[in-house]
Amino acid sequence: AMSAREPARADVAVIGGSGFYSFFDADAAEVTIDTPYGNPSAPITVGDVEGRQVAFLPRHGARHEFAPHTIPYRANLWALRTLGVRQVFAPCAAGSLTPDLGPGSMVVPDQLVDRTSGRTQTYFDGGGVHVQFADPYCSDLRKAAARPGTVEGGVLVVVEGPRFSTRAESMWFARQGWTLVNMTGHPEAVLARELEMCYATIALVTDLDAGIESGDGVRAVDVFAEFQRNLGPLKTLVRSAIAAAPEGPCETCRVHEGVNLPIELP
Ligand code: ADE
Repeated sequence: AMSAREPARADVAVIGGSGFYSFFDADAAEVTIDTPYGNPSAPITVGDVEGRQVAFLPRHGARHEFAPHTIPYRANLWALRTLGVRQVFAPCAAGSLTPDLGPGSMVVPDQLVDRTSGRTQTYFDGGGVHVQFADPYCSDLRKAAARPGTVEGGVLVVVEGPRFSTRAESMWFARQGWTLVNMTGHPEAVLARELEMCYATIALVTDLDAGIESGDGVRAVDVFAEFQRNLGPLKTLVRSAIAAAPEGPCETCRVHEGVNLPIELP
């Protein structure tokens, strides 16, 4: 455990998805952080990766206690920023909306469609702050994550869940030209933007969504099993993305320059 006199610091974070519950060896420092938005999903571990100080947080909790709609997204991002984090890689499981991208594919999306409802997606309840979100992901981090074998670009539609999509919903998403579907990509992305953290999603395809395959539809057990099957390569990709990332935060993600904020960011 970390000594109280030496507060842990990190400049890069990894937020692990379903089945991605640890990133470091057992000796990594563990920090518990409280925020004005409550506790994050789990204690945060901090360690060295390729010379960068990296914070790891499993978004669903250490034992998957949080369903996608109950994840404390605001506390999670706030806690990471409290440690000094300004760059976030966000691996996640996703369903594919195109037969071209089968299970095992790793995709770095460049766009997002928000089909969630009722999730708090801002720190700025006071009004007057409206962040740019035309390009929801940081181009520096997307470039860093786009290693040989990964697919660059794509539209991730984030559904409310926790149920999977109906066949008609899924066919509708696919006809829009959207690429992937998941349940956790939002509001994580916009909360990172509000905290001026560079953010990129790395989606691991676990299944073909109901509108794409002709079988009975997606089952959670298959999603988890497929994610486990590719967890090693996914971790390797995240490590090389961290190694390739330039120092942050980038110019573009500093969206509040010249704006008077109603709350102080950590
Ligand atoms: N996460 C993994 N696969 C998914 C799917 N098909 N739909 C929504 N979220 C998912």
